[in-house]
Parts: sequence; structure tokens; C-alpha cells
Amino acid sequence: MKNGDMEMHVRGTSRFVDDIPAPEGCLHAVLFTSPVARGKILSLDISGAAAAPGVAAVYTHRDVPGLNQVGHVLKDQPLLAVDSVEYIGQPIALVVADTPRNARRAAQLISADIEKLEPVFDPREAAAKGLIHGSRRVLVNGDPEAAFAKCKIVAQGRLSSGPQEHFYFETQRALAVPGEHDTIKVHASAQSPGAFHRHLAEVLGIPMHKVELDIRRLGGGFGGKESTAVWIVAPAMAAFILKRPVKLVLGRNEDIATTGKRHAYEYDYKLGLDAEGKILAYEIDLYQHAGACADISLAVLGRSFLHVSGSYNIPNIRISAVSCRTNIPPNNAFRGFGVPQGTFAIEAALNHAAELMGLEAEILKGGNLLREGDTLPYGVKLDSVNAVRCWQTLDKKVNISARRAAVVEYNNTHTDTKRGLSVVPVSFGISFAQMALNQASSLVNIYVDGSVSVSTGAVEMGQGVNTKIRVVAARTLGASVDRVRVDTTNTSRIPNASPTSASSGADLNGMATKFACEKLYQRLQAFAAKQLGQADPASIVIRDGIIHAGGKPADLTWEKLVAAAQWARVDLSEHAFYATPNLHYDLKAERGRPFAYYSYATSLTEVLLDCVRGTYSIEAIDVVQDVGESLSPEVDLGQIHGAVVQGIGWATLEQLRYGADGKVLTGVSAYKVPDIKFIPKRFDVTLLKDSSNPYAVCNSKAIGEPPLVHGLGSYFAVLEALRSVRRDKAAPSLPLTPEKAFMYLHAPAAGGTK
Ligand code: MTE
Ligand code: MOS
Repeated sequence: MKNGDMEMHVRGTSRFVDDIPAPEGCLHAVLFTSPVARGKILSLDISGAAAAPGVAAVYTHRDVPGLNQVGHVLKDQPLLAVDSVEYIGQPIALVVADTPRNARRAAQLISADIEKLEPVFDPREAAAKGLIHGSRRVLVNGDPEAAFAKCKIVAQGRLSSGPQEHFYFETQRALAVPGEHDTIKVHASAQSPGAFHRHLAEVLGIPMHKVELDIRRLGGGFGGKESTAVWIVAPAMAAFILKRPVKLVLGRNEDIATTGKRHAYEYDYKLGLDAEGKILAYEIDLYQHAGACADISLAVLGRSFLHVSGSYNIPNIRISAVSCRTNIPPNNAFRGFGVPQGTFAIEAALNHAAELMGLEAEILKGGNLLREGDTLPYGVKLDSVNAVRCWQTLDKKVNISARRAAVVEYNNTHTDTKRGLSVVPVSFGISFAQMALNQASSLVNIYVDGSVSVSTGAVEMGQGVNTKIRVVAARTLGASVDRVRVDTTNTSRIPNASPTSASSGADLNGMATKFACEKLYQRLQAFAAKQLGQADPASIVIRDGIIHAGGKPADLTWEKLVAAAQWARVDLSEHAFYATPNLHYDLKAERGRPFAYYSYATSLTEVLLDCVRGTYSIEAIDVVQDVGESLSPEVDLGQIHGAVVQGIGWATLEQLRYGADGKVLTGVSAYKVPDIKFIPKRFDVTLLKDSSNPYAVCNSKAIGEPPLVHGLGSYFAVLEALRSVRRDKAAPSLPLTPEKAFMYLHAPAAGGTK
């Protein structure tokens, strides 16, 4: 599509926060952060920093003009620490200087006398000590105890999955420019315009109408820019007080060391099946490693909680989940938002059960897939279930049993290399669990020259939401797509916007845009009927920039129609609002309808393991993904490719290490994200045909996060290859790095592989 972001990214002409020329007199801010994981601040000496060359100001919590608080859901996160610190990297002071270098140098001159207290880094230990955010959630459906008594096979075990660094190209950053009358404009890399707008106003102590947050696009967000406003609010505070522009840019290692990650989880699972392999009962305990503040952890945990049954029908279930408060930086959203973590345990439990039964895992999985009319643990009776269709479409394409036979044959005839295969079905609920967030608005302006500008609360971060909104607007108005431009996400044009997350950006903002365009279309249709002497406005059809009357193209173009309408005093602007209907959830009862619909998929991953070195390659991944009626197949394919690779990274490669003191030790040089050589050799994606979806804009389905779950296939395929060599050890935890594979293969059985 012409004038889309893709073209600009390729040419290098797309603008990010750093590409905005620094305004005259711009200052640079740096945070001084806690070197201690838990402690009491006894004293803080900022005098050396304040006197350092180029320094304009050094601020502590005492200088915050309004509320010293950036807690996203609970008010438990001060912008600048007051008298205690809860994690290494927690902001204590803000240094502002003429250059980033001077600010950094000055920050090193701050000295904090902190009395160390005993930190907690283990989520299970935190839970045992009652150190949790919110309260424990428990859901029971059916009678798991009675069902377990009937089970022939019980797979029981402990598991863990690791954290994941977002590794967006553009680190956290913002530029704040003060204006007249105590106003401020902030350019930021942020996913939550509405919430951050509010944080800004609260911290500055001014009404929201004096704050303008403007977001052109993000160099990636992946959830990491959804909840923590620290790096946006801090420079804004300095700019507001000093009345000078201030910029804050986190260095890469600073970003890795101090920002939240995907939550690591610990699991206790127990899965019971009958002799035929039907799942009868499941018990699962989730321990979420949340970190020092609640951040958005409870929402992420909620999503894991509602997805523990994966793509399977489980009649009797007991789910329990806690968000554990530990002394690491508060973890936050990451593509998948808890669903990959929730799904991991059931996939692992089924693999375990298959091993006990001497069956291939795909036999058990295929036999227990969700079907029409099945009921989910929280009481939703499913319709339009595409789990089986996705599975069968994949099977038709790749012939799962033939691929299995080839793996078995290979492994029977090879000793120094082994293959492994895993089929992973995905079912992913779409909507915000927080009911209030399922709303969006759109402002559509048609200019007198026929060009169209659309503003919504959606944030473009590479996922192509602007492309989809353009498609929706052009299609609904009947104008050519080249006439439509999506403007920046700006809180003065679109107030109170929900974050762009939960894969619902295009769903919500697309629908609001459709509503606005429908109203404009009707107005133009009525006006065109008058112009063309047609009694019935319905006989007018506007399509691809041409006006048709009574089925024939009239001598009237979009441009001429718009100009005439403006001259005749027809309103060419429209604002519309959309709130997802029929959502409800009762937290006490743990029952309701929390999702508008489900996104389904199935994939097959095949790996080749080098049994000497423990290294492996992803030989093939075949995906069938249900995207409904795609608004843009190119965008959807790009999202699937990206999400799958990011999922593979989480499941196999990306490992963060923390020191005994709770410090993140992994810097950019040691953190491995999948590179071009790690991309599957065969990467085949099929969009499910003849799928429709009445619950989202133009019958499309969300795509941003669901395909990340396919990444689990790489973990299980490597695990299978490993277990074809030996089975006298417990499975390594996720991520299954080459290092862990090597240790599994070659360390003695007693030596831990975790
Ligand atoms: N794709 C790119 N290129 N960059 C991103 O930051 N974020 C993902 C996904 N795809 C992301 C991305 C996440 S976490 C979400 S929730 C969705 O995009 C959000 O966009 P959507 O709701 O418009 O799908
Ligand atoms: Mo996505 S993790 O919901 O921003």
C-alpha cells in the first residue's frame, strides 16, 4: 500500500521520537536508580551532582509538583523513591543537564546511604510468606477430586517458564516541551495514551487539558510500553519545572536492567486421563513472578488463569493463581499477555501424559480439542470453534502422521543427531479482561480537497494498525485508500484512549472508525442523491472514489462530491464511539463472558538436534492461523512471522540472568534473540479459509499476539529430540537453550538440569 509505514521503514524515512529535531535549549534527563534490591534510604546526597558541569537541576521525590505516583493499576509505585527501595533499578533521583553525558556523569556523583534488608527473589518463597499482589484466584469447575479417582493416567509435576526482555528497537524515551500557560506537550514512545496522559497530569499536578501527549509510532512496544510511565513522566516533570524542553532516552543496557519483562512462572500441575486418553481432570497452580510493584501483573495473571486449559476440553478443573511480590523490577505486559505462560503448562502436562502412555503427544492433543458446544472452565459455551478446522487444515497440508513417521525413522537410524516434532493448537480469547478498556473512539475529517484524516487512540508500533484503519475507512467511505491518512495518536484529538494492546487495537479503533465513516457516508450519499436528482439516497453507491447512481457510474468523483458538499454546508467531520457489547465477568464466582471471541490456530514445529553439542536448528514450522476475513493479509502474515519468531526466542534462546543480589546481569551482548540464521528453514503460513467473525470489524480477527504461542512448539520439539536420547532426568525448564540441552545430554542424571 502506498504511503504506508512499511515503505517508510524500508527507506529509513519513518520518524521516531529521536528523529524529532531537539528544540532549542533542550536539556537531557537521566535517572539515578537504586543499587540495592531492598532497603531503607537513610540519606541521600545530591550536592555533588547539583554542582557538576552542565547540570540544570537534580530532583528527588520532594520536588514532584503533584502526586509522586505512577502505579498503573494499584497506587504502589512512586515516581521517585521516598524512604525505601524495592528493586535494583528503582528511580531515586532525576538529573537534568545540558548533554546526556553531563547528566550521566553527574548522576554518578549522587550517593545514597541505604540500609540493606533481606530481599526475596523466589516466587514460591514469596507466596509462602504471603508476599503477593492482590489476592489468590481460585476457580473450580466440575468435580476434579472425584474425576481424578477415575483416571487411569495421572501426569504430575513441577515446571517453570522464564522471563523475556522486550528488546524493542527503540528503547524507552520521551521529549517534553513546555508551552504557554503551564501547558506541556510530550512526544513519547508509549502504548497507553489515555493512562499516560493521566499519569502526566497527576504527577505535574495540572488538569489533563493542559497536557498533550502525542505519539507518531513506536519502534516496537510488544507490551513493554503499556503500563510504566516513569520514562515519560520524569522528563515531563523536569520540563514543567524548568520551563525548558527535556528529553530522556534509556540506554540499551539501562533499559534491559531496569524495565519490566515478560513474567516468569512456576507451575504445579496434575493432569488425569482415562485409558483412551480423554482428559478427565486438571489441577494447576500458577506462581507468577511479578516483581516489586503490582504494575499490570494482575491483568496478565488473569489472562493466564483463563487460558490454562489451552485448546482442550477439560470437564473437571481446579485453577489457582497468585502474583508473587519479589524484589526485581516490576514485570509487565509482553505479547501474549500471560496466555503463552498459561498454555505452556497444559501442553507440558499433555506431553508428559503421552510419554507415560507411550503415545505421540499429537494423538492425545488431537483427541481432546475444543469442539462446538464445549464449555470453558469459566462457563462460556463455545460456538464457531475453529480449533478442529485449523488442526485438520494443517493435517491436510503437512500430513502429521507422515511427518511423525519420518521423524521416528530418522531417529531410529541416527545417533549423533536427532529430530523432534511438536504440534501446538492455539486458542486465544480476544478482549481486555478489564471491562472498561473495551472502548475506543475515532475522529474522521474529510477535507475540502477530498483527502481524509483519521485519528484514533490506536498506537502504531509496527503491527500495522494504521494500515488496517486506512483499509476500514477507505472501504466504508468508498474513497480510494490513498486518500486516507492516519494522523498521530494525540490526546487532544482522542481523549481517554485505552492502550493499544490485547491485540484489540484494530478491532476497537477500526470499529469506531467504521461507525464514523458510516455516518459520513450516509450524509454524502444523501447529498449526492440530491445533486444527481435521485429520489432515493440508497440508489447512490460510492465505491473506489466513483459515485454510482442506479447501478451506473455517474459523472461525479469523490473529490467533486466532497467539494460540493462542503460548499453546500454539509458537515464533513464525524466522531464515533465503540464499546464491545455483551462482555461480563464476575470475579467472585469466576464465571462470565470475558472475551468477545477466540482466535484459533495450529502449528507443527520440527527441529534437528546435534546430540554432541546440544545445539539445534528449527527445520520447519507450518502454521494454520484463523484471522477471520483479513483486513490486510500482508500485515497478518508479517504479524504471524514476527510473533512466531518472538515465541521461539522465548521458548528456546532468550535467557536473562540475575545475580545473587537481584541485579540483571545480562546485557545486550549476552542476550540472544533469534537472528536470521535461527529463523525456521521452512516457514509456511496458511490463513484459514472461509472463516468469518461477526464480533470484530469487517469480520476480521485479531492477530497481534496469538501466533506467539506457536513458539512453544520449538520447546517441545527440542525436548522430544532430547528425550529420544535419554529419559532419566526431568525436563529442562523453558527456555530450552542450547546450553541446557547440552547439560541435559551430557551431565550425569543427578546433576540438576534446571
Ligand atoms: N508488532 C510489531 N511489529 N511491534 C510491536 O510492538 N506488539 C504486539 C503486536 N504486534 C507489536 C507487534 C502486541 S504486544 C500487541 S498487543 C499487538 O501488536 C497490538 O496491536 P494490535 O492490537 O493493533 O494488534
Ligand atoms: Mo500487548 S502484550 O497486549 O501490548
